[in-house]
Amino acid sequence: MTEKTNTKKFNTKKFNRREILATAGAVAAASTVATKAMAQAPAIMSSYKPLVVSAHNGHRLKNEAGETGVEIAYRMITEGADVLDATTACTNLPELSTEDTSVGYGGLPDANGDVTLDACCMHGPRKKAGGVAYIQGVKAPSMVALDVMNHTNHHLLAGQGATDFARDKGHKIEGDLNSEVSFKRYLEWKARVEAEGDNRTFAELDLDFIEKKGFEVAYQMAKEGRIDIEHIHGTINCNAMNSKGEICGNTTTSGRAFKVPGRVGDSPILGAGLYVDNEVGAAGSTGLGEMNLYHLCSFLIVEKMRDGMHPKDAGMYALNRVKTTAMSNPGYLNDKGEIAFNLQFYILDKKGRYAGVAMRGGTERYYAVCTENGGEHLVMDSIYMNE
Ligand code: GLY
Repeated sequence: MTEKTNTKKFNTKKFNRREILATAGAVAAASTVATKAMAQAPAIMSSYKPLVVSAHNGHRLKNEAGETGVEIAYRMITEGADVLDATTACTNLPELSTEDTSVGYGGLPDANGDVTLDACCMHGPRKKAGGVAYIQGVKAPSMVALDVMNHTNHHLLAGQGATDFARDKGHKIEGDLNSEVSFKRYLEWKARVEAEGDNRTFAELDLDFIEKKGFEVAYQMAKEGRIDIEHIHGTINCNAMNSKGEICGNTTTSGRAFKVPGRVGDSPILGAGLYVDNEVGAAGSTGLGEMNLYHLCSFLIVEKMRDGMHPKDAGMYALNRVKTTAMSNPGYLNDKGEIAFNLQFYILDKKGRYAGVAMRGGTERYYAVCTENGGEHLVMDSIYMNE
């Protein structure tokens, strides 16, 4: 699908509110029936500015036409495509590329070396959702999540059942989703964990040892530049709204790098990795899934926006809730007593306001936005600055 949708040029032609308002003003002045013109006003004002908001990796890789993911999604919604098809096209770019080791094909595998993927989607106007968890063999799980939404009355298929469903729907099933790079990094990680294991082979190590030591080793590898720090819990979430105010979103991931086999994170769980309410807005996440799952932050953020909060304030509210919980667990703190992990949210509301918020930010933590001005990276608001 990406190949098919990526061939067109980025279309900046857009709904021009000022022109339409000017036309409306002229009509009203010419009319001898002022009340008729007044009655037209609400319809004119009910137009929305198209908007796409995503994780930073939605504005990194490019298609053959030179468009990034958020630019593809923006072009599609301004050309009249379904908003969820547009956000899915955005996420397909990193899913299908081995350059991004945090999602889809070439994502960092679990402790057994298997790439297992999670994804979900929500369609605001249709009030429908779909997801897959622990799926193997499919390069772009976001496409299977769409099929779950469109062809079943279920919200989440997992494991072998999800793979069988994907095959049934015509998705190609690969024997192995590792790329050369992801498998090389896995072998390096495994050897380093084994070296910490008192001469036990990897098969002899307890899973809780692998989980704890494996996490430390992954962070050490990130510090040494062997893996991208963003890809330890890396993921992509993309949310968008079209000129009719229709809001959709999706989230897709290969989950935590080198996770305990069987682990599923926040990404496929409605309310955690993603939540969309067509009357309010959308929020989705990347980062430490466990802490997001504990608070169902995407749902929380949308509910705070329903109460009138700005997307940034709603996102910071959720992060502070997470911070309060995590503070009681020394395993989550650095030597300064600060929260050590990252968790990010990408948020937009029906008014066209948006935000990207992170537990740990700084000038190098970005999210991606595409408006009539084109795609851009913006610095995230955060609770802590990165060292
Ligand atoms: N947020 C992705 C994960 O923790 O699986």
